[in-house]
Amino acid sequence: MNFNISTRATQFTLLALLAGAIATVMAQKCPKDCHCDLDQKGRYRTYCNKVEWINPPTDDFEPGVEVLIIANARHPIIVGPVFQFFNKLEVLRVIDGYLPSVGDRSFWGLVRLKTIDLSRNNITQLSMESFRGQDNLIELDLSRNRLDNIASGTFTHMKELKTLHLIDNSITMLNARLFLHLAKLKYLDLSHNSIDDLPPETFKDVQDLKVLKCRGCRLSNINPQIYNILTHLTELDLGQNQIKFLDREEFLDLRHLRSLRLDGNQLSVIVDELFTNQKGLTFLDVSRNRLAKIADRAFENLSNLTFLDASYNKLSHIEPVCFRPLRSLQTLNISGNLQLDLSEMEDTIQVIQNVTGLVVADMGALPLNLFVPFRRLSALNLSGNHIDNITLQIIEPLANLSFLDLSRNQLNGIPERYATQLAAITDVKLENNPLICDWCHMGPLIMHARKLKYGLPWQEVPRCFLPERLREVRIDGLDQDGVEDCMEVIVDEDHDAASTSHNFLEQAGSVSILAACGLIIFILLAIIVVSTALCLSRHRARYYTHEDKRDTILEKNTETPTITTGSEINFKFPYNERVCTIDEMCIPPPPPPPGKVAPATPADRTAETVALIEYGSRIGSIPGDEPGPTSGPRTVTISSISQTASIHPDAPTATLVAAAAAATATAAPNGTGKPFTPKSILRKRTDTGL
Ligand SMILES: *[C@@H]1O[C@H](CO)[C@@H](O)[C@H](O)[C@H]1NC(C)=O
Ligand SMILES: *[C@@H]1O[C@H](CO)[C@@H](O)[C@H](O)[C@H]1NC(C)=O
Ligand SMILES: *[C@@H]1O[C@H](CO)[C@@H](O)[C@H](O)[C@H]1NC(C)=O
Ligand SMILES: *[C@@H]1O[C@H](CO)[C@@H](O)[C@H](O)[C@H]1NC(C)=O
Ligand SMILES: *[C@@H]1O[C@H](CO)[C@@H](O)[C@H](O)[C@H]1NC(C)=O
Ligand SMILES: *[C@@H]1O[C@H](CO)[C@@H](O)[C@H](O)[C@H]1NC(C)=O
Ligand SMILES: *[C@@H]1O[C@H](CO)[C@@H](O)[C@H](O)[C@H]1NC(C)=O
Ligand SMILES: *[C@@H]1O[C@H](CO)[C@@H](O)[C@H](O)[C@H]1NC(C)=O
Repeated sequence: MNFNISTRATQFTLLALLAGAIATVMAQKCPKDCHCDLDQKGRYRTYCNKVEWINPPTDDFEPGVEVLIIANARHPIIVGPVFQFFNKLEVLRVIDGYLPSVGDRSFWGLVRLKTIDLSRNNITQLSMESFRGQDNLIELDLSRNRLDNIASGTFTHMKELKTLHLIDNSITMLNARLFLHLAKLKYLDLSHNSIDDLPPETFKDVQDLKVLKCRGCRLSNINPQIYNILTHLTELDLGQNQIKFLDREEFLDLRHLRSLRLDGNQLSVIVDELFTNQKGLTFLDVSRNRLAKIADRAFENLSNLTFLDASYNKLSHIEPVCFRPLRSLQTLNISGNLQLDLSEMEDTIQVIQNVTGLVVADMGALPLNLFVPFRRLSALNLSGNHIDNITLQIIEPLANLSFLDLSRNQLNGIPERYATQLAAITDVKLENNPLICDWCHMGPLIMHARKLKYGLPWQEVPRCFLPERLREVRIDGLDQDGVEDCMEVIVDEDHDAASTSHNFLEQAGSVSILAACGLIIFILLAIIVVSTALCLSRHRARYYTHEDKRDTILEKNTETPTITTGSEINFKFPYNERVCTIDEMCIPPPPPPPGKVAPATPADRTAETVALIEYGSRIGSIPGDEPGPTSGPRTVTISSISQTASIHPDAPTATLVAAAAAATATAAPNGTGKPFTPKSILRKRTDTGL
């Protein structure tokens, strides 16, 4: 009883309090086009979106506003002394407008202000007076404006400032005393400005900096003196710059570094002992460089490293001794190193067998026993590796997976044994595979999905690719009667075409490349025909002046009655060999006789093209029977070549690939290989054609 009463009393009090709070909020003023409430910290917040005014109508505002957000203003807001009205402000955001400038002393007297966010505006200039009086400001965000060179001492009043964002402005150089008096600054982000130099002088004022980011800054080298000044750095982001080389002394002074991003630079080697003093480093990203070599002792002392990303480089081999110091490594990404021969790296793989996350995407063919040593692997990314329902056996040893990315592969279906395995994994990605929704291909997985109480737990349930009428239908949404027993895939070119055209869906670029290629061939043919026509007409002009010879020529012509447009070009004119000179474009390349590859002017053709065309012909003539599981990249399709080309900077240009593909298309139409037709044909085994 007592208990009951007290609970009720408590409930009542709570309700009363809540009502009170709401009433207070309701009683307070809130301007039109604004929304007023309390934020998570219980501060009175006014959020104004798409307002028409350029000066805040202070009469409509509650003076006690603590958080003020003005976003997407229709006209450029004037940030001037009128803002001094909001003397309780703690957070001010005027964002996504076209704010041109900040008036002098706009925030004078706003002593509680901790955060000013003026990002995504049109501010070009700041003056020393702009932030006058902001002695207590902690965070200033001026990202995505048009600030060019900020004058020295602009921030000089903000002695408490800890965080400064200047991302994506037009800053080209840092003035020597730009950060004057910002001794407490901990976090500085200068990313996406065209700064090609970080002058050590500038950083003398911010020696406590813990995080420095200058991503996409056009830096080609760093004056190491800066590290000597910024010895407290724990996080350094120099990604997407143009750094070509790092000396082994480079980071010697950065003993507290935990995270280092050097991705998207032009490094070709990581030298020995580069990270000697970075024992605390846990995160290292050297992806998207040109690394051909990681020296044996490059990672020495990186015993705390948990994350290493060396993807999309040009590595061909990694020695076991190189990875040995990485005793804490959990996640490794070595995707897109096309030359990396994992079948020859067994010792190295033994060394990293304890990782829990592994990304080996965009690698082409992988050895089928690759994952045998990885007992603890829980997250694996195998995207873009031409895996089909036979090479899927690569995942067999992995008993403890909770995430598996199989997207962008060549899976038509999931055989029973792997369906069981996949259905037990928390999340599997199967997007961009040419999945055929019939019982023999997807049946096992569909059945497993049905058996599970809540269906497949995967974030993205697989969708059918074929048959056409079921395209994009989720496999758990299929009508049981609507599913065919077993559709026969006409293997070789149509099988490939299925996955190819699917990949085309994904990267429509390839289609346009093929189209462009067709266009080029068409134009070439047109030029040949036109020049021949021109040439012939000139001949004729001459023939009529040499009537005696004319008859002979006409005779010759009638001797070859079946003249095709092609052979016309090859006309031999016995008397007039010099009538047309090369300059007049009269000796065009021989035409493509039916059944042969059309050679471009042979002299122009580089060895590379020849190789490609040969490669292309090989692909074009993949026999229909299934090669053994251990064979190399058997499911190479046109799309896989262009995929390769797009991720590998050294690969021949996509145009060449497309040219090779086109050549393949014309190659051997009545031989073993059939011409490539980018359409898929499916037939029901029992019924009529689909
Ligand atoms: C932004 O500033 C630039 C140059 O200062 C100006 O040309 C442009 O019109 C401004 N944009 C808007 C929407 O005010
Ligand atoms: C690793 O650190 C130790 C000190 O902790 C140092 O003596 C050794 O030289 C470092 N390793 C390398 C390769 O410099
Ligand atoms: C390495 O990690 C361990 C455990 O996480 C930690 O105790 C140690 O301080 C770290 N070493 C350094 C140099 O940060
Ligand atoms: C490498 O893999 C990691 C872990 O999945 C991921 O966070 C990172 O973005 C990948 N790197 C690239 C360049 O895709
Ligand atoms: C992997 O972990 C096991 C068990 O903790 C350990 O015995 C083994 O030495 C580790 N292997 C490597 C290469 O670190
Ligand atoms: C899978 O993980 C569990 C715990 O996470 C572990 O007990 C088990 O031994 C692991 N299985 C294998 C095959 O390593
Ligand atoms: C797997 O790797 C590919 C290629 O690097 C990437 O695009 C994809 O986002 C990764 N998957 C996940 C889930 O991170
Ligand atoms: C596996 O692929 C072969 C040939 O592509 C096909 O005949 C077979 O039906 C497929 N099996 C499954 C379960 O998808």
